[in-house]
Amino acid sequence: MSKNILITGVAGFIGANLTLKLIAASKFEKVIGIDNLNDYYDVSLKEYRLKVIDEAARKNFGAAWNFQRGDIADKNFVDEIFAETQPEVVVNLAAQAGVRYSIENPATYIESNILGFFNVLEACRHCENLRHLVYASSSSVYGNNKKIPFSTDDRVDNPVSLYAATKKSNELLAHCYSKLYNIPATGLRFFTVYGAAGRPDMAYFKFTNKLLRGDDIQIFNYGNCERDFTYVDDIVEGISRVIDKPPTSEPPYKIYNIGNGHPVNLLEFVDILQQELIRAEVLPADYDFEAHKKLVPMQPGDVPITFADTKDLERDFDFRPNTPLREGLRHFAQWYKTFYHI
Ligand SMILES: NC(=O)c1ccc[n+]([C@@H]2O[C@H](COP(=O)([O-])OP(=O)(O)OC[C@H]3O[C@@H](n4cnc5c(N)ncnc54)[C@H](O)[C@@H]3O)[C@@H](O)[C@H]2O)c1
Repeated sequence: MSKNILITGVAGFIGANLTLKLIAASKFEKVIGIDNLNDYYDVSLKEYRLKVIDEAARKNFGAAWNFQRGDIADKNFVDEIFAETQPEVVVNLAAQAGVRYSIENPATYIESNILGFFNVLEACRHCENLRHLVYASSSSVYGNNKKIPFSTDDRVDNPVSLYAATKKSNELLAHCYSKLYNIPATGLRFFTVYGAAGRPDMAYFKFTNKLLRGDDIQIFNYGNCERDFTYVDDIVEGISRVIDKPPTSEPPYKIYNIGNGHPVNLLEFVDILQQELIRAEVLPADYDFEAHKKLVPMQPGDVPITFADTKDLERDFDFRPNTPLREGLRHFAQWYKTFYHI
């Protein structure tokens, strides 16, 4: 029996953090990571994350680590990796992320999120060792869900962005493969993940870059939005617990929310972010934040609130995310200060 785990999107924000945890935990003999290192955002950040993983792996005498650059939309590449490594667990995090980008660039979502995911499913089907497929879905599948908190029992048939439609499609495809080929599959709906070395296309990171340059920041829906911000360590803890416990239902298929369960208004979020940026000395104490805040209408594809119901996660894995927003943003601000030598 192989003791290998294959993680796609390993140079990404969540993938890199998960890999660091798994290498340290030595649960698997080998962690194999793949990523196409695309330039959706600054590639040097992805290279930095890989360097951190390389260093951690060198210091650790447990799990071996191997990185291969390639695209999950390339069927030959995916098949070869599976044949070579015979993974016992697969965590599919590679995807084109971002709601707004999907409005202007739909093709890349179909390629990575639909074709890429299909290739991963097909490879899982032919992988004898496979014990569990865990894959990233998203809170965006809830669209304009009126009922809060969002439960995995709610109907999610009305996506408001192509990104959301691809994530919902992943859940449907996984269900089909689980049912037809008895592949244990768990989909995880992540809620607005943030943290150190995160994604520069997300609000907390983008706002920080803009404020530092003296540009204005746009706060959508005039600030009347709430997001269930979830610290990356909580997401990684959730994934690593889920990995260990493939579903035993018939078909072996489950979906969970992983979110903080405490939505925060965008204006309050910006307020905490600015306090932490001052505290970390990224911005000066006398920075005129008010002069740089622009309240603007809602954007297409956006939703007014996200709010995770995490009862199922608590029941099945004895875990609920609990990092307070201020603490998580403090880690981000401190990392930003060091990384960009401010
Ligand atoms: N960060 C969040 O708030 C959030 C919320 C909900 C869901 N998700 C999902 O979680 C997963 C990880 O998100 P993240 O925030 O770490 O994003 P990320 O963009 O930092 O990571 C994704 C990684 O996948 C790689 N990738 C993309 N397409 C690929 C392809 N075709 N082949 C190989 N590699 C490819 C990218 O280069 C990137 O390094 C994604 O599936 C995303 O949709 C993230």
